[in-house]
Amino acid sequence: MDLKELKIALEEEIKSCKSFEDLEKLRTKYLGRKGLLKEYFKKLKNFPEEERKEAGKILNEIQEKIKKFIEEKSKEFPKEEEFIDLFLPVRKLLTGSLHPISITLKEIEEIFANMGFEVVSGPEIESEYNNFEALNIPKEHPVRDMQASFFIEEDIILRTHTSPVQIRVMSSRKPPVRIIAPGKVYRVDPFDPSHSPVFHQVEGLYVDEGVTFAELKGTIEIFAREFFGPDTRIKFLPSYFPFTEPSAEVAISCTICKGKGCSTCGGEGWLEILGCGMVHPKVFENVGYDPERYTGYAFGFGVERMAMIKYRIPDIRLFYENSIDFLEIFK
Ligand code: PHE
Repeated sequence: MDLKELKIALEEEIKSCKSFEDLEKLRTKYLGRKGLLKEYFKKLKNFPEEERKEAGKILNEIQEKIKKFIEEKSKEFPKEEEFIDLFLPVRKLLTGSLHPISITLKEIEEIFANMGFEVVSGPEIESEYNNFEALNIPKEHPVRDMQASFFIEEDIILRTHTSPVQIRVMSSRKPPVRIIAPGKVYRVDPFDPSHSPVFHQVEGLYVDEGVTFAELKGTIEIFAREFFGPDTRIKFLPSYFPFTEPSAEVAISCTICKGKGCSTCGGEGWLEILGCGMVHPKVFENVGYDPERYTGYAFGFGVERMAMIKYRIPDIRLFYENSIDFLEIFK
């Protein structure tokens, strides 16, 4: 191969260099210790005097050209062994997590499941009958104003509490029933630190022969201690609900001040957490249960309120704002 051919062959090879490895091959082939150019340089001494000078110049040019090409090109190709800096800070991986309401619901469901309660659900769109009448709340009852409802159409509303699930369960099953019914409820309320037009409740219902108020107390006490901690004290206060008789409101000793009185409990030392009572005989009649034979208790509470007390969350709106900073606290 004369120098002209060598130049042509080189041009071709340069064009087909596509990677860092190709560059390395080119370097060894031409510039290596046993490379082509070395051979040509050796042969130079056999050249006639006049040609030798010219050929040497060409060989030097070729050598320079290859070196320059490799230098330029190697910047373009990624090096095979890149330097890995083990001390670089790790890129933060954004992963999802359960919403605090989901975490709270899971915890509540587990506590009641351990006490033999089955978890059931009912629809959020409900008849006025199931939401009110069947629960002994007639049209003119003031509770209807306290739980002002969103209407879908005549007689169809967004449920204002989970109590209609009591009606659905009892209308479709014979006693004994022991259920909790978690879910969303809707009320015409403005958003403020303690109200939201949609929130979550958990309903509880246990009906059988000979169910007593003492069992209701025991169940609520166990739940409160499991959920808020073993030191939690509870008290029952007389209350009123049209669908229970007698009715009670349950308060727990303030989780912040342990009952001494602070700003969270308004100086009272107690926090109301739940409404409950013995199922009203009228309700039993409405679902076809014999009120002479069966007794039962029911309770209902707000999930947001439970979570706010347990995790010391000052404003209910935080649950719905989807602030990553807030949600990540519960990871
Ligand atoms: N449904 C009632 C409310 O929303 C709570 C409750 C449920 C009270 C069951 C007694 C029995 O306020």
